[in-house]
Amino acid sequence: MVIRVKTTRRKVFEHEAPARVVAVLGGQLSEEGRWLDAHMDGVLARFLKKSKFSGKFGEYAVYATDELQIVLFSFGKRRGHTLEQVRQAGVKLIEIAARLPSRDIALENFLADRFGKKETSYSLAEGLLLGAYSFDKYKSRAESKRRNFVIAQGFGPAVDKARTVAEGVYFARDLVNEPPNVLTPVELARRAEALAAEAGLEINVFGPDKIAELGMGAYLAVARGSDNEPRFIELVYRPEEAASGHLALVGKGLTFDTGGYSLKPTNSMTTMKGDMSGAAAVLGAMKVIAALKPPVEVRAYVAAAENMISGRAYRVDDVLTAYNGKTIEVLNTDAEGRLTLADALAYASAQKPVALVELSTLTGSCVVALGRMVAGLFSEEETLARGVARAAEEAGEKVWQMPMEPAYRRHLQSKVADLKNVGSREGGAIQAALFLAEFADAPFVHLDIAGPAFVENAEDNPHGPAGGTGFGVRTLVRWIERQS
Ligand code: BES
Ligand code: MN
Ligand code: ZN
Repeated sequence: MVIRVKTTRRKVFEHEAPARVVAVLGGQLSEEGRWLDAHMDGVLARFLKKSKFSGKFGEYAVYATDELQIVLFSFGKRRGHTLEQVRQAGVKLIEIAARLPSRDIALENFLADRFGKKETSYSLAEGLLLGAYSFDKYKSRAESKRRNFVIAQGFGPAVDKARTVAEGVYFARDLVNEPPNVLTPVELARRAEALAAEAGLEINVFGPDKIAELGMGAYLAVARGSDNEPRFIELVYRPEEAASGHLALVGKGLTFDTGGYSLKPTNSMTTMKGDMSGAAAVLGAMKVIAALKPPVEVRAYVAAAENMISGRAYRVDDVLTAYNGKTIEVLNTDAEGRLTLADALAYASAQKPVALVELSTLTGSCVVALGRMVAGLFSEEETLARGVARAAEEAGEKVWQMPMEPAYRRHLQSKVADLKNVGSREGGAIQAALFLAEFADAPFVHLDIAGPAFVENAEDNPHGPAGGTGFGVRTLVRWIERQS
């Protein structure tokens, strides 16, 4: 849906929009709702009674006349609400608005009395914008409904910021949803270059020769099987006033993962265009950072590649040497993400960041453990882990900390090299995280986003449709803002 979100100083009942939305809390009209009701001779209160809300969040009823539609939107209980519910109300209102005949819809600034106009305007606008996303560039006939939302007594700059953040999420979602025949590593780099030019970021892109020269032997081995060349992408945001130290972001950038010779079965291979979701999140976050201009330097790294089969492809039993000199015995070519990340993490570490946050659709094991709606957070640095977890919580992106059990390192011991790229099946997500930690030489957080990055059912995405979710963009932006 194409939407516009604006604010007004007026209250909902003063607004002339034909459609208006007010909250119901604990079965009672909100203050705004009561004002509106007073102007309608108590019709709304009577309609609410008849509607028999059960008390669940997200229930709604529409009181409609020829020229007016009043939506009563339930926030469930009377107290104990969260800003995430305001965000989700925004998402839900997209669905509701699509069914309303009116284009212009005035919204109460939900829960502003509790959280303040600024925070609620931000969350509501963010929910509306995230919910309105659709990816239909390959549909010959796309329906494009338009709706204009006005947040009553809203805070304009908060809505502007929500728009900036949502544009970063859209950017990430578009990259994830783009089919793999279009979004090759070369194309991913091209889009990063376009972003850099537009947003004023510095960029370096390396091809296979430079990657080999740098000694990124693990990454190069994964990339070698494809006719689509790899591209290593480095993006730098420098604040106006030179800062000491920088933050580093790394994203897994497999534009497609067939599994290689350890080939995936058909049903596991579908959705593997989403195996660059970590890269998408990192690039989306850089887009937002370039616009918000926090006073901290941020560098982002993506080792983009495609995991394919050919006469040049890497095999199991191969031994590879990574950027930091460590050797890796390949036992499964489908554990390719950690190989590309080994070099990206080692390269990022060599620039001596203050902290290093990496996102990857790394393991099916993490999806089994935490399901589709929660990412795994792995770190040996408690303070950093808490900082990222807090940012995720504020962003409404669910993460759960998993243990970096040191005893499981033994599963990665190889007879012929320093490490092997897979251990045992049990605790697979933890072993993958332990593997990555061997290549990160800085305070390090790994987010396994294999579950929430790409969902086949919209119910698994609390902030939009099925497909790429852009998971991680908003967590990264919050985290970076908090560091400055
Ligand atoms: N890209 C996959 C992980 C994945 C699985 C992402 C499901 C999203 C949904 C990764 O490259 C992979 O294949 N991992 C293997 C590791 C195994 C061979 C140790 C896995 O999880 O099966
Ligand atoms: Mn794989
Ligand atoms: Zn993969």
